[in-house]
Amino acid sequence: MDAITIRRPDDFHVHFRRGEILKSVVPFTARQFGRAMAMPNTSPEPILTRGDALKYWLEITEIVQKVGLSPEDFCPLVTIQITDETEPNTVREIKEEGMGGHKVIVAGKVYPLGVTTNSHNGVSDFRALYRVFAAMEEVGLVLSLHGQVPKAFCLDREKEFLDTLAMLAKDFPALRIVMEHISTKESVDALKDLPKTVGATITLHHLLITLHDVLSFVGEEGSEGLNPHHYCQPIPQKLEDRGALIGAAMSGNPKFFFGSDSAPHLKERKESSCGCAGVFSAPVLLPLLVGLFEFHGKLDRLEPFVSEFGARFYGLPLNQETITLNREEWVVPKEYNGIVPFFAGKTVGLKVQG
Ligand code: NCD
Ligand code: ZN
Repeated sequence: MDAITIRRPDDFHVHFRRGEILKSVVPFTARQFGRAMAMPNTSPEPILTRGDALKYWLEITEIVQKVGLSPEDFCPLVTIQITDETEPNTVREIKEEGMGGHKVIVAGKVYPLGVTTNSHNGVSDFRALYRVFAAMEEVGLVLSLHGQVPKAFCLDREKEFLDTLAMLAKDFPALRIVMEHISTKESVDALKDLPKTVGATITLHHLLITLHDVLSFVGEEGSEGLNPHHYCQPIPQKLEDRGALIGAAMSGNPKFFFGSDSAPHLKERKESSCGCAGVFSAPVLLPLLVGLFEFHGKLDRLEPFVSEFGARFYGLPLNQETITLNREEWVVPKEYNGIVPFFAGKTVGLKVQG
């Protein structure tokens, strides 16, 4: 096969930021995906209300248009951040919010306090938000969870959150909940047992790297060292965790779908004594995903994972267009506008056509 064609995929978890970074990163996602769900942890101001979300949608769309695409080619999806201050009415206001015939505000995101980039306004008491979750259940807004317990040991934070996830699923049986960027075998096992209202996104990088690639990365000269560009939250874990994630992504179970968590940070913010969490994977997503599924002999499971299950979970129509990747080698640039991408400097064997 010289080329691989699939239904145009969706990315159900991406960080676009604002300002200059927004301008430089949006085109990578817009050229590969039909839709992408932009996270609300923007700085200095997060996206907290319907008004913020619609303004952000317009900012993203303007960039999409500047690179010659229309909202028909790529439609951003936006979210609001749920904080201790969010009121049930903030949620009720965004019932079925649409732009140009497209539903665009699709989820409310909860970050536990302080666990990751821009989560200083995160939540410390989930029970205190029950009225907000009830309103989300009522209007059909998906609850998107950064599932980590802040005070726990860094590698146990996700595992320790699974009780809260089960509690929310039980207390809100009609609320659709997504556990974002799962990173452990325990999460995969827990997800399988939870009701079908609970799904999970899986990133490309958690399918490819482990903690070893963060702490004992083999650099160009062959020596091992810390790679801050592989550091993200949740922290990539052990081989058996990565194996479980690969198994889940390729299982055909519709609870598991793609969300890249592509999270750009300027190089100096990553290469620092307190480096930011986040892997900027947007430029290489589809070539590496296709390559990975092909490597495992599971190309037939790729399209459901990346183009169908997420859309179905969110109640969105499947994209009708296709995208083709050609077998063509290219070297991933070492930087894009001051941001180091995933696989920087490495050769990739597939390229998005056009
Ligand atoms: C994300 C970011 O940089 O905004 N970082 C990350 O490591 N994934 C935030 C997040 O999703 O945790
Ligand atoms: Zn994220």
